[in-house]
Amino acid sequence: MELWIYKSKIMKKLFSSLLLSFLIALTFVRADEGMWIPMLLDRFNIDIMQREGFKLTAEDIYSINKASMKDAVMIFGGGCTAELISPEGLIITNHHCGYRSIQRHSTVEHDYLTNGFWAMSRDEELPNPGLTVTFLVRMEDVSDRILSKVNDAMSEEEREKVVREESRKIVEEATKRTIFKAQVKPFYLGNQYFLIIQKVYRDVRLVGAPPSAIGKFGGDTDNWMWPRHTGDFSLFRIYANKDNEPAEYSPDNRPYHPAYFFPISLKGVKPGDFTMVFGYPGSTYEYAPSYHLKMLVHDLYPKLIDIRDKKLEIINAAQEADPKVRIQYAAKNASISNSWKRWIGEIRGLKKLHAIEKKEAFEKRFQAWADAEPQRKVRYGSILQEYAALYPEYGKYDLWSSYLSEVFARYGIETVGLARYFHTLVSMVEEKAPPEKVSDRVMTLKKRTESFFRDYEPAVDRQLFLALVKKYEENMPRELWPPTLVKWEGKEEKLMERLYRKSIFTDADRMKDFLEGFTSASVKKLKKDPAYRLSEEVAEVYLSRIWPEMQNLELKKKRLDRIYMAGQMAFRQGEHLYPDANFTLRVTYGQVKGYEPRDAVYYLHMSTLKGVMEKDNPDIYDYHVPEKLKELYRNKDFGPYGENGRMPVCFIATNHTTGGNSGSPVINAEGHLIGVNFDRAWEGVMSDLMYNPDQCRNISLDIRYALFLIDKYAGAGWLLKEMKLVK
Ligand code: ARG
Ligand code: GLU
Repeated sequence: MELWIYKSKIMKKLFSSLLLSFLIALTFVRADEGMWIPMLLDRFNIDIMQREGFKLTAEDIYSINKASMKDAVMIFGGGCTAELISPEGLIITNHHCGYRSIQRHSTVEHDYLTNGFWAMSRDEELPNPGLTVTFLVRMEDVSDRILSKVNDAMSEEEREKVVREESRKIVEEATKRTIFKAQVKPFYLGNQYFLIIQKVYRDVRLVGAPPSAIGKFGGDTDNWMWPRHTGDFSLFRIYANKDNEPAEYSPDNRPYHPAYFFPISLKGVKPGDFTMVFGYPGSTYEYAPSYHLKMLVHDLYPKLIDIRDKKLEIINAAQEADPKVRIQYAAKNASISNSWKRWIGEIRGLKKLHAIEKKEAFEKRFQAWADAEPQRKVRYGSILQEYAALYPEYGKYDLWSSYLSEVFARYGIETVGLARYFHTLVSMVEEKAPPEKVSDRVMTLKKRTESFFRDYEPAVDRQLFLALVKKYEENMPRELWPPTLVKWEGKEEKLMERLYRKSIFTDADRMKDFLEGFTSASVKKLKKDPAYRLSEEVAEVYLSRIWPEMQNLELKKKRLDRIYMAGQMAFRQGEHLYPDANFTLRVTYGQVKGYEPRDAVYYLHMSTLKGVMEKDNPDIYDYHVPEKLKELYRNKDFGPYGENGRMPVCFIATNHTTGGNSGSPVINAEGHLIGVNFDRAWEGVMSDLMYNPDQCRNISLDIRYALFLIDKYAGAGWLLKEMKLVK
């Protein structure tokens, strides 16, 4: 009897492991598409990666036992990736990722944005308070622990609460008596959970940046486009305390000595070469139902594109007319235009791909599969109908909340956005907070408003006010209008005149006087200020009319998303599906490859300095080429970085990347750094929703262009000495 049980256990084990290997063999993983979890490469990806040419092992990429590539990749600031390129803590990321730091150090006398910045020794490297880099220490699957705490009978709120509470415990246990930071993140839309343990370094100094005419060459004209010629990189250095551990800035800190850094390849790339991108993709929606795509393509994107068209029209004209405004609004313009342009591309890409029809066809098959078996039917049979019922409501609220913030917050009517920051101050005074707290707040607001007014031109904001208020009135139901708009309907221009004449939020001097003379009696004045009042009304509309229902709909959607994801995983059992991006470290791999953007046109995989010269145009700001670069080009002075008399600049490949992957290392078959990822090509930007191997390309800076610029353009060759260059 006992023996029998024993035997059957062995049999069972044997059988299940056979089954498992059978399933794995069946499991189909594509090249190109996918953003993979580094600790699971071993299981799902490494075979195909090696078949595609990769010469190293999964352990070389991610290991908790030895130094691996993951020790050389970090989150840069809050939304980019960077990688180590020397044993002395030197890191490289994009110019657009370092932009704010470069801007903060820039003054009229030292305009590093325009002229570039190069430390010529370590003493000249510039500290950046607030800038951090975050390493992944390790990750761990905690799905069992979290999911054992929840069940299907729970309401979505309950479930969220339980998950939050259990995550908190896991984080606490994992970080107790350590300097680590941790978080538990949902994967597969809440079907799995991983604990992410991180280490944050806080002394990160600016080492070098090319002038914007190189680092941002092509500007918003070329953004999201191939062929590209942008030298989009900047250099920083991580500093640590004497034990090599994180510390606040101190002149006594020393360069961080990493466990691993990337050797740099001088070999360059050719079509078909294996490439891998290792970084932090932000978010994707690959498993969303057709309803989601319809919402974006038919409703949300067109409305948002339209309102940003207007903003850009106003800002572009003002920038063209006045060089001061051009500088003041450069970063705002870039930010408004970046998503605007991507949305346009996404719509085109989704249409060309017939993405909605593809999703619908898939949903038909899914429904048939779900209906074919009673248990499945219970679990998944009604999910698509529920989506169909939810999306009209969800889309409406999503649009309202996006629209409201487009008009009154993020680079909309800026004075109203600024006024909202004073809400806390008013509450503090009214709730009789301690005076030192109040004066702290006033100090904060002083700094904030000073930097606000540096990049603010009332004439531009007045135009934005008029245009955006009209858009709001045209597109938002009347019951969502702030009372001021109702009152001044048809007299918007008068409202605008009055507001800009009276408000402290439209004039740097009035603001300065107000804050300098601030007493608790000033609150009365503030509450009468027309911009402040409008901002309060807008907040009221949002908080009482939109937000609560939006929360409710989000929860409903979350539940559907989780179940539908589980359903898709069960339905597509033969494939191993990758989880949507969630700003955790991922690996994507593919190959260097050109593409056919439209009939009869083929784009090559690589751009060169010749293309920079071809674009050179003194009449177009985005295409000014620095004299020194022209000279180097004329003399073909490319040093060891050129290739057959040409200087490579950027290249494209089939790696599946998204926002957040900016600055990510692009690695060749040998594990050497060949580029720095910074963008995607126009025809393929719908890859956040549906990937198309024929059209989706990530754009990388060829690392040799960075080396050439550091060495030949900047004369900062001292930096090359600490790198490991391989031929
Ligand atoms: N499109 C790239 C990304 O999404 C680059 C953005 C910065 N450059 C610009 N010209 N706006 O972040
Ligand atoms: N430029 C993007 C970023 O800042 C990367 C481009 C993309 O969306 O793939 O992360």
